[in-house]
Amino acid sequence: MSSENITSVTRENRKFNPPDEFQAQAHIGSLAKYRRLYRQSVNNPEEFWAKQAEELLLWRKKWRKVLQWKAPHAKWFVGGRLNVAENCLDRHLGTARENKAAIIFEGEGGDERTLTYKQLYHEVCRLANVLEGFGLGKGDRVAIYMPMVPEAAIAMLACARIGAVHTVIFGGFSSEAIKDRVNDCEARLVITADGGWRRGKVVPLKENVDRALEGTPSVEKVLVLRRTGSRVRMKKDRDIWWHDVVPAAAHVHRAKAFDAENPLFILYTSGSTGKPKGVLHTSGGYLLGTTITSKYVFDLKETDTYWCTADVGWITGHSYVVYGILSNGATTLMYEGAPNHPGPDRFWSIIDRHRVTVFYTAPTAIRAFMRWGDEHPKRHDLSSLRLLGTVGEPINPEAWMWYYKVIGGGRCPIVDTWWQTETGAIMITPLPGAIPQKPGSATLPFFGVVPKVVDETGREVPRNTGGKLVITQPWPSMLRTLWGDDDRFKRQYWSDYPGIYFTGDGCRQDEDGYFWIVGRIDDVLNISGHRIGTAEVESALVSHPSVVEAAAIGRPDEIKGQSLVVFVTLKDGVKASEKLKETLRKHVAREIGAIARPDVIRFAAALPKTRSGKIMRRLLKEIAAGGEVKGDTTTLEDFSVLASLQKAD
Ligand code: PRX
Repeated sequence: MSSENITSVTRENRKFNPPDEFQAQAHIGSLAKYRRLYRQSVNNPEEFWAKQAEELLLWRKKWRKVLQWKAPHAKWFVGGRLNVAENCLDRHLGTARENKAAIIFEGEGGDERTLTYKQLYHEVCRLANVLEGFGLGKGDRVAIYMPMVPEAAIAMLACARIGAVHTVIFGGFSSEAIKDRVNDCEARLVITADGGWRRGKVVPLKENVDRALEGTPSVEKVLVLRRTGSRVRMKKDRDIWWHDVVPAAAHVHRAKAFDAENPLFILYTSGSTGKPKGVLHTSGGYLLGTTITSKYVFDLKETDTYWCTADVGWITGHSYVVYGILSNGATTLMYEGAPNHPGPDRFWSIIDRHRVTVFYTAPTAIRAFMRWGDEHPKRHDLSSLRLLGTVGEPINPEAWMWYYKVIGGGRCPIVDTWWQTETGAIMITPLPGAIPQKPGSATLPFFGVVPKVVDETGREVPRNTGGKLVITQPWPSMLRTLWGDDDRFKRQYWSDYPGIYFTGDGCRQDEDGYFWIVGRIDDVLNISGHRIGTAEVESALVSHPSVVEAAAIGRPDEIKGQSLVVFVTLKDGVKASEKLKETLRKHVAREIGAIARPDVIRFAAALPKTRSGKIMRRLLKEIAAGGEVKGDTTTLEDFSVLASLQKAD
């Protein structure tokens, strides 16, 4: 899409200054202080980051060089050595944090557990010893497919402790998705559970793993946590119960130091082809990025009870449920289940009972809460909250205002944080005690981040003009490559503008320099804050024997941001029917996961294409939105296709 097509229609003039009381206690309490630090961070980035790395992290060996930048490859803290798990756990022992809650857990059924820093440390040590007993160590890949229970965080930290590389696979993904990811990174171990609770039902995690592992030659062992008590098949010599080995293992473990560039994890995310990309993050830079943003964006204090509702299967769960929060020695709350189970007030009840102070969630959830009605939050005491956050997609000003008034009681700043799986940490965001907020804008860049809005040629566009969002300087938590595919890494992010990172997002900067993210401008949809590649959905559809061709597009949706509409052409002789639509929906859910289940399927005799054979998605979008096709159709190869599409059912 060319940047002329990126128009941002939002014009929002309201501005909210940080409340005086908030400002008075904030780590960064004025706009002037933010501006001064920001200038330092971009004028002398190496000096800035070296100082932060020394202050915020525990190093076993100091680096020789802060940054080695041979675009597009960055190495941060070259020669430095540290252990990520030691930073999140051991260094809080022997301090006032030792007996403080590290994780407060609430299961969907209402079961609760608190793990202090000391207890969490011992659990991670036990599992680290078990993993080493399996013969795993530095560089080995471990897949984690777990419900949102403390053991998911324990598994991540145990991998980090022994230098192994985890890949967490969201529990909503299907067997096919597990298989692809496990094979791509050649995981030797899978850590899973018998199941997890979701809306009162068991998600059959182990069963999904069993099916996936029929085609994964690299996997040697499966470690299974008992969570639901449901019956599962344990394969001899491969499957081991967590409770048979972990509690019996030694509760201390000497953590080795690893290179700052040692891979920490691979996280798969959708791109513009059918194959998910394995985004690779390493240790020192990633931990620094998540630690510093956790501290300043969430303004973390010793007394906070912080709750991020993201699943550990997404980057938000990695950076802001586990690593950045524990590294700061803060208390992180984990909730296993659905926001509306047993009733639509579950989140507010959790905030009320646990006295949550900082709450971080997604716009799609906020819009659903709005629809469910104010009576649900109003039934609970939300006065413990002092700060709210959002992430994952643009928030519409109406939802922002509702969040501000009904949840925040008009006293909590809102941090609208823009970032990506690839950026590792928050990039554009208000600092809550310093930067005035405008509903719908992620506001200004975080320290060390240099974003620009540019046109096709890479020139910066004037204020209030749409363009492409790029980041022009390397930052510590940036992705290092795509696992096993450095060419795709270069092509995907660095080829539009050589030496400059292209985010895939459209954006506008207003007269105050505030950034307004418009959304993805590549072939990636953002449905309920989750990235779904149109090509992934299309390849799932054409793998069904009835389908010849498919095109997936997003249609604006009040709750989900976008809903998924697919146009499908069927093989000759296959009859279009409601039943077939349902079959295809189920097929996509089986191939990818329920999050990719199409909302609408439309059968079409043919799809509109350019003369060079490219599907004209723009036309399909206009048709799906229910409108007339108004845009330019001069490149359309066959006009009769349009007429038939408008009639397609
Ligand atoms: O389009 C942007 C949108 O989510 C994309 C990144 O998705 P993912 O890698 O799954 O990470 C989501 C959680 C960090 C971005 O390219 N996005 C994320 N945060 C915002 C956003 N769009 C607007 N405003 C945000 N605050």
